Amino acid sequence: MRILLYTGKGGVGKTSVAAATGLKLSRQGYKTVVISLDSAHSLADAFDLDNDLIRQPDDPVCQIDDRLWMQEINIQKDIKQYWAEIQSYLQTVLNVSGLDEVVAEEVAIFPGMEEVCALLYINQYYRQKSYDVIILDCAPTGESLRFVSIPTVLNWYMKHIFKLERKLAGVARTFVKKISSVPLPKDDYFQNLENLFDQIEGIDEVLANPEITTVRLVTNPEKMVITETQRAFMYFCLYGLTVDAVIINRILPDTVGEPFFNSWKQTQQRYIDEASQYFTNVPIWKIYLLDDEVLGIDGLTRLGDQLYADVDPVAFYRTEKSYQFHKVDDQYQISLLLPFIEKGEVQLAKRAEEVIVQVGGFRQHIPLPRSFMNAEPSSAKLTGDRLVITLADVQSG
Ligand SMILES: Nc1ncnc2c1ncn2[C@@H]1O[C@H](COP(=O)(O)OP(=O)(O)OP(=O)(O)O)[C@@H](O)[C@H]1O
Ligand SMILES: [Mg+2]
Repeated sequence: MRILLYTGKGGVGKTSVAAATGLKLSRQGYKTVVISLDSAHSLADAFDLDNDLIRQPDDPVCQIDDRLWMQEINIQKDIKQYWAEIQSYLQTVLNVSGLDEVVAEEVAIFPGMEEVCALLYINQYYRQKSYDVIILDCAPTGESLRFVSIPTVLNWYMKHIFKLERKLAGVARTFVKKISSVPLPKDDYFQNLENLFDQIEGIDEVLANPEITTVRLVTNPEKMVITETQRAFMYFCLYGLTVDAVIINRILPDTVGEPFFNSWKQTQQRYIDEASQYFTNVPIWKIYLLDDEVLGIDGLTRLGDQLYADVDPVAFYRTEKSYQFHKVDDQYQISLLLPFIEKGEVQLAKRAEEVIVQVGGFRQHIPLPRSFMNAEPSSAKLTGDRLVITLADVQSG
C-alpha cells in the first residue's frame, strides 16, 4: 500500500495534480482511490463528473475508470455512520442551550470531525488492503497540518482525559442528578468514542512511515507561495511525516514569447533557482502552465504526462525519517529534522513519556522510547537543519 498526500497553499494546483496522479497510476495498473479532504470539494469538478455520478447512496466512493475511484468526504452523511451517539449527545446539549433542532444538528459537527472521518476511511482501506494506492487531495496547508496532527491529539486525549471524564460522568450521574439542565453523556457516548479510537489506532504510524506515506508539496514560482512551502515542509517534519517531492506548478513555458511576460519569466526563474537551493535533498518536479484549465480526463492526462515523464509517481524519493533517537555514551539524543526555523521559534517541554515541541501555533508530542523515559533534557541545539535535544539519565547522576 502506498499513500501519497498532495498539499500546498490555496489554488496552487493540488486537486489537479492529485487527480492527474490518480489517473496515471490507475492506468499503470494500480487500484487507486483519490480522496478529497477539502470540505470545499472540487475533485469531482477536476474529473468533470456528472453530479449524479458522484455518490451513490451507501457507497462512499465513486468509480471513474477501471481501476480508479474517487471520494469526497461528506461529513453530514458519514456522521450518521460513525458518530451517531456522539452527535446525538452534542445535539441534546445544544438543544438545551436554546438552539433549535436543525441548527443544533449543523453545529454539532465540531472542528476536526471531517479530518477524523477521513482518517477512519484511510485506516479502514489500509487495514483491509482495499487499494494499492491512496491519494489524498488535501485542503490548504494549515488544515492539512491539523489533519496530520489529529492522531497525536486523539492519542493524548484518550490517554490523559478520556478515562477521567468517563469516571467523573459516572460519579456525577449517581450523586448530582438534577443539578444542571445540561445532560451528562450516557455510557454509549464513551463506548462510541472508544470504538472510534480503536478504528483510528495505528494510523499515526502509517502516516509517519516513509515507506508507506510521503507528502508532496505543490507550489508556484512566486515569493509568498515558496515561503509558505518552506514553512509547510518544516511543519510536516514536526509531525513526523516525510516530504519526498516539491512540485512547482504553473511555470510559463518557453513557447510564451510575448514581451509582456518577460519579467514574469525572470521572476519565476529566480524562485525556481531559490527553491532548488532551499530544498537540497528533495527532488523538485516542474509543471508548465497548460494552454487551458486542467479539466476532465484529457486535461488531467496532459498534466500527468508532463509531470511524470521521467518519474514514477509511486516510487519513494526520500525515506529519511523526521525523528531519530540515539544513545551516545550515557546520553540520549532526539534528532529532529526542522529546517527553515530560527532558534527563538522553538519551545520545548518534557513530560514523563514524551517531549513536547512547539513551533508557532503547532505542537507535537514526541513519544519517547522506553529507555529515554527517566532522562531529563539537558540541552537543545539547532545544528544545520536539525534540532538536537539531549537528555541525560537522572538516575545515573
Ligand atoms: N499547470 C496548469 N496549467 C493550467 N491550469 C492549471 C494548472 N494547474 C492548475 N490549473 C488550474 O488552476 C485552477 C486551480 O487548480 P486546483 O483546483 O487544482 O488548485 P488547488 O490547489 O486544489 O485549489 P484549492 O486550494 O482551491 O483546493 C484550476 O482551474 C486548474 O484547472
Ligand atoms: Mg483543491
